[in-house]
Amino acid sequence: MDEHVEKFIAEAEKSLADDTFVKLILSNYKGSDRSLQKISVRFIETKKGNQLMFQSRFDTRDTVKNFSVAQAANELRLHLSSGFRNAHLFTTDGDFQLEIGKRNSRLTVGKPTTKTRPSIAHDRAKRSFIDPNAFYLKALGIATDKGEIKPSQQDKWRQINKFVEILAGLIEQSDLKDKQALKIVDMGSGKGYLTFAAYDFLTGGNATVKERASSAGNEGTLVHTRVSARSVEMTGVEQRPELVDLCNDIAKAGNFDGLKFVHGTIADFDPGEIDILIALHACDTATDDAIYKGIVANASIIIAAPCCHKEIRKQIKPPEMLAGILKHGIMLERIAETITDGLRSLILEREGYKIKMIEFVPTEHTPKNNLLVATRHDRAKSTEISAKQVEEVMNLFDIGEQRLEILLKK
Ligand SMILES: C[S@@+](CC[C@H](N)C(=O)[O-])C[C@H]1O[C@@H](n2cnc3c(N)ncnc32)[C@H](O)[C@@H]1O
Repeated sequence: MDEHVEKFIAEAEKSLADDTFVKLILSNYKGSDRSLQKISVRFIETKKGNQLMFQSRFDTRDTVKNFSVAQAANELRLHLSSGFRNAHLFTTDGDFQLEIGKRNSRLTVGKPTTKTRPSIAHDRAKRSFIDPNAFYLKALGIATDKGEIKPSQQDKWRQINKFVEILAGLIEQSDLKDKQALKIVDMGSGKGYLTFAAYDFLTGGNATVKERASSAGNEGTLVHTRVSARSVEMTGVEQRPELVDLCNDIAKAGNFDGLKFVHGTIADFDPGEIDILIALHACDTATDDAIYKGIVANASIIIAAPCCHKEIRKQIKPPEMLAGILKHGIMLERIAETITDGLRSLILEREGYKIKMIEFVPTEHTPKNNLLVATRHDRAKSTEISAKQVEEVMNLFDIGEQRLEILLKK
């Protein structure tokens, strides 16, 4: 083996030994696999301890293989003798650039691009929460049969991951943290993307890289995060019968025994006692019907992504002071949305929930991207203040009726 290649590998090993390693990139590939573009090597934390993750970029997909520090040198040697012409090692002490020519090679050293090591924990948080190879993603047309997310479904994929990430975080911080059996209802479940993803994630269907690696020869797996498996009883409620049938078929075919979909309206569905109520993009006041069911069922967590805010929009009569601003339809639209979701959050506070209002998915993907997250807590001091604020806001904008309020007063 060429002395510069050996020197490069020795520098990589040294940087790993003295904790100065940042990343390593192999590029300018001229080998036999036409679709291979480059390989990035990063240091990651796994259940087997710290390892080096070799992420290979092909024309249409990425694959990942993890290696121990001891194995990594050999792996690098293999790649550097099978077609990669360039290798770039970034360390906090200096950057090493290897160029392999037909006859000879060259190794140069430059100043470090970065003097800080990337956080392993940060890297971990960026990984996907969902196994792209999951059966339901293929059945719902989000992933190909090979487990690759279709280009047209990337937004949906991001949304599903974000939702599961938020849900997992909420459970972790709530009184459900150690509860091993959860009852969940998803109101207005539609095609069930988020229902399946939540169920699969919480029941531990999302195998880790480590587990997949041992069963699949350590090949071709994207990195995703895992939670410990729980027993979950989950129901999707949906008014369109064809979607209910589709989702039940997929749940059956995927052996999702605790997951079922029922045909009906949110208003008519009796959830009984539940731990979590989900209502994502249920139209207009269907969101209020769902939140109401969650409050009555004493759910520990209520998550709603409201969409269409017609009820309040029709009623708002802006106070004189704001008339000049709200004469524009688009402004009225926005304030109607803010008031509707604001009233819902105040009412939930009054009913004993702590509220967070967060951005679900970036605005470029959908303008309806508020996520209202409510976690039950012992009746708080803010209860009276919230009740007063609900009244004041409704009076200020001359709002006669708000669906959630009507339901709770009944
Ligand atoms: C925009 S889709 C959202 C689906 C899913 N929750 C999501 O976010 O991907 C809204 C779904 O809620 C259903 N829906 C709306 N109002 C409903 C109601 N009152 N009762 C039951 N289902 C309802 C619709 O049929 C539709 O499938």
